[in-house]
Amino acid sequence: MRFPTRASLAALSASSLLTSALAANITIYQPNVAFVPTPLPAPGPASNFEAILEQFNLLGRTTVWNLVKKIKFEGDTGEPEGMVNIAEERYILGGGQWTNKTVSYGKNVIINGTDRTPGAGYAHLTVYDGQGMRIADATLTEPGAIEYHIGGIEYDGDKIWATIAQYRPNTTATIVSVDPTTLEDTNLIHYADHLGGIVHDTRKQELSTLNWGARNASVWDLKAKTTFQYPQFTQPKQVARNPFFSYDYQDCKYLGHSKIYFNHGVMMCSGVATYSNNVTVGGLAVVDIETMVPYSEVPLTMVSDLGTPITQNPFDVALVDGKMRLYFLPDQRNSTLYVYEAEQNSPYQY
Ligand SMILES: *[C@@H]1O[C@H](CO)[C@@H](O)[C@H](O)[C@H]1NC(C)=O
Ligand SMILES: *[C@@H]1O[C@H](CO)[C@@H](O)[C@H](O)[C@H]1NC(C)=O
Ligand SMILES: *[C@@H]1O[C@H](CO)[C@@H](O)[C@H](O)[C@H]1NC(C)=O
Ligand SMILES: *[C@@H]1O[C@H](CO)[C@@H](O)[C@H](O)[C@H]1NC(C)=O
Ligand SMILES: *[C@@H]1O[C@H](CO)[C@@H](O)[C@H](O)[C@H]1NC(C)=O
Ligand SMILES: *[C@@H]1O[C@H](CO)[C@@H](O)[C@H](O)[C@H]1NC(C)=O
Ligand SMILES: *[C@@H]1O[C@H](CO)[C@@H](O)[C@H](O)[C@H]1NC(C)=O
Repeated sequence: MRFPTRASLAALSASSLLTSALAANITIYQPNVAFVPTPLPAPGPASNFEAILEQFNLLGRTTVWNLVKKIKFEGDTGEPEGMVNIAEERYILGGGQWTNKTVSYGKNVIINGTDRTPGAGYAHLTVYDGQGMRIADATLTEPGAIEYHIGGIEYDGDKIWATIAQYRPNTTATIVSVDPTTLEDTNLIHYADHLGGIVHDTRKQELSTLNWGARNASVWDLKAKTTFQYPQFTQPKQVARNPFFSYDYQDCKYLGHSKIYFNHGVMMCSGVATYSNNVTVGGLAVVDIETMVPYSEVPLTMVSDLGTPITQNPFDVALVDGKMRLYFLPDQRNSTLYVYEAEQNSPYQY
């Protein structure tokens, strides 16, 4: 039993409450197994970002990719949207379970700023062990909640960050932090737009969130936490238009402030798009967190055993034994983790 509910919280006066921790609705699959290792490991992408960027900038269209691990995840994974790898000991998925589909209002019909019915479902965070067996599943939303879609997720060595939004463009979203040791979530920021991907720039203490199709990034100053006043809506510190249209970013990870990018904070994002001629393009990009300018990019053409483009949904990156490793989980419901490394002796990349 979970108390207080999101609905009862919304009815509380916002002034009495800056943030609200919710008791988690959790199913345990492996009793007496910790959700995450303790002490909590450092986040893979940010701990080795200079080496990751150096290796990323040797990649090209002709890079040979070696599949170094393939792990089937137990059970129905729903629609995975975000993933964090915690030292290959745990994989945490943010995923959606749909109980009623959204339905288009019709071609070019916009009602209340959006183009489809709300649908219904639940946002889940599911913890898997290093072999892909489920440890626990937390349902982060209430039955009937209109915001039930979880987007990309981020791990900063302390918290997991997620967005839980209405499953339709130009609507509303909540930025939540989750304690990985208990899977309890806290509603931090309410925003009047859809949100998907999220990263935490730990150096600037800022969150950056991407809206529907990652068409723009909104930046949130965590140093101004007391002004958030959830469940009232908050305005971000700034919004930047994404100038990159070759594919839509799905899941991003904070890297760091690199000297090769003028000490700007950068993230790595994976994404995919299908064009009107049915050509699908996917890839990975290193992107400025605040301006959305892509600094470096590589297309990826791998597909899962079920034929899904590898960058379809969740992604993570880490340095393992000195080599950059990429983690992808493209398929819905019946999901396999694909872990790749670039062939180090690839010829000159073009
Ligand atoms: C817990 O989550 C499940 C969906 O995973 C839902 O069916 C159930 O109603 C939730 N329980 C509570 C008390 O919210
Ligand atoms: C499912 O969505 C449709 C609109 O597409 C709506 O008419 C219907 O009431 C919804 N059903 C439930 C159980 O929420
Ligand atoms: C549009 O918004 C109004 C006011 O909030 C609401 O009464 C109405 O039901 C909404 N329409 C739809 C189709 O959601
Ligand atoms: C987004 O919705 C708001 C109202 O909720 C509306 O004023 C605005 O025109 C919409 N934007 C787009 C791009 O449809
Ligand atoms: C961000 O995207 C929303 C559409 O969801 C749009 O209404 C808004 O104008 C965009 N802002 C900028 C600065 O591009
Ligand atoms: C794209 O695929 C759809 C469905 O498979 C098909 O109906 C459509 O004709 C295709 N369009 C083009 C331009 O090939
Ligand atoms: C699940 O996917 C695997 C390939 O990854 C496939 O061999 C298997 O038949 C699929 N199972 C179901 C029930 O679809």
